[in-house]
Amino acid sequence: MNASTTDLPNLRATPGQLALAETIREGKPRQSNGAIAKVPASCYTDPAHFEREKAVLFERLPQVLCPSALLPKAGMAVPHDATGRPLLITRDDQGTAHVFLNVCRHRGTRLVEGDDIQCAKRLVCPYHAWTYKLDGRLLALPRPETFPEMDKSDYGLVELPSLEAGGLIWFAPDADADFSDARLVSEDFSAFGMDDSFLFRRKTHTVKGNWKLIMDAFLESYHVTRLHANTIGPFFKDGVTAGDEIGPHSRSAVGRLEEMEGIDLADMDAMRRIITFAYQLLPATVIVPSPDYVNVMVLMPQAHDLTLVDDFMLIREEPTTDKARDHWERSWNLLDGGVFASEDFRAAELGQQGLESGAVPELTLGLLEGGIARFNQIVEDHLRPR
Ligand code: FES
Repeated sequence: MNASTTDLPNLRATPGQLALAETIREGKPRQSNGAIAKVPASCYTDPAHFEREKAVLFERLPQVLCPSALLPKAGMAVPHDATGRPLLITRDDQGTAHVFLNVCRHRGTRLVEGDDIQCAKRLVCPYHAWTYKLDGRLLALPRPETFPEMDKSDYGLVELPSLEAGGLIWFAPDADADFSDARLVSEDFSAFGMDDSFLFRRKTHTVKGNWKLIMDAFLESYHVTRLHANTIGPFFKDGVTAGDEIGPHSRSAVGRLEEMEGIDLADMDAMRRIITFAYQLLPATVIVPSPDYVNVMVLMPQAHDLTLVDDFMLIREEPTTDKARDHWERSWNLLDGGVFASEDFRAAELGQQGLESGAVPELTLGLLEGGIARFNQIVEDHLRPR
């Protein structure tokens, strides 16, 4: 059952999505070089390797911070601390999203405490009440005559580069970051209706595993009918998969058991019933559009063996009945609690435990696991001195 009403706009697949779906319908397997691949275990277990990843990937590259639906209306703000710096995400009066450092420009006090969403036209520092607009401008300060010749326009919040596209808010710690690859992949998410979706649930998971072990679970289909045998596995055809790359990002598709003949694949709703896509966005976001909802998982590595995963479930519109809410609640519990937490994240933790023993110096990857080798290669390419 789809709990959404039927008056939502009809969504069309992008040419790239269509091409992958056709590949699956025609039964053409993904091109493979026909060889197994190896990835050193140290990529997951070496703290020094992780520090290099952090410096090169997470301190420089544009990265997804949250879905747009976290701040659905103008005049909202929310602190965000899990990337290792105190961030403040806002949506100003005009509806534009911003990412600031959550720090008052007067004497450096944290501006907004806690992590709750604020609905306010202005943000007031708890110390001396300097007051900021949600576009970052310093609006007012008490006793302004005691700051002679101060120009308020020099004291706006420190803003980091950001981009809102395809229903996602990206940011970059590096002022010179290039968002063109983020723009490139965004049209796929607009095709899933993510630009104006509703955030049904959010949960932050603590996973005792390397961040790439979590990415790996979404980079191959070999495990789908096995690890997920008691949940979603029975819905899928083993090994019926296709994939490609969008810049540094990966896109894959897995065939469901339903009959594919006669389906208009350009009709997104129809296609999603028979094909499940997954996206792995560099550096560390996974997006899984199920037939009628989307999970956005933002991975925030804390150490080589510890990762926070922010899981957001997006639906097309806010549920208005108990029946609809129950429907989405069941979907949330199935994926977030069942498939992700109890299966994929658990597998990542078990992988970390095993690899730390040193028993397996290299991971061995079969032909259905080429996505893992490719992703590791992309990471290694970034780490290489330029
Ligand atoms: Fe914020 Fe003084 S530190 S107003």
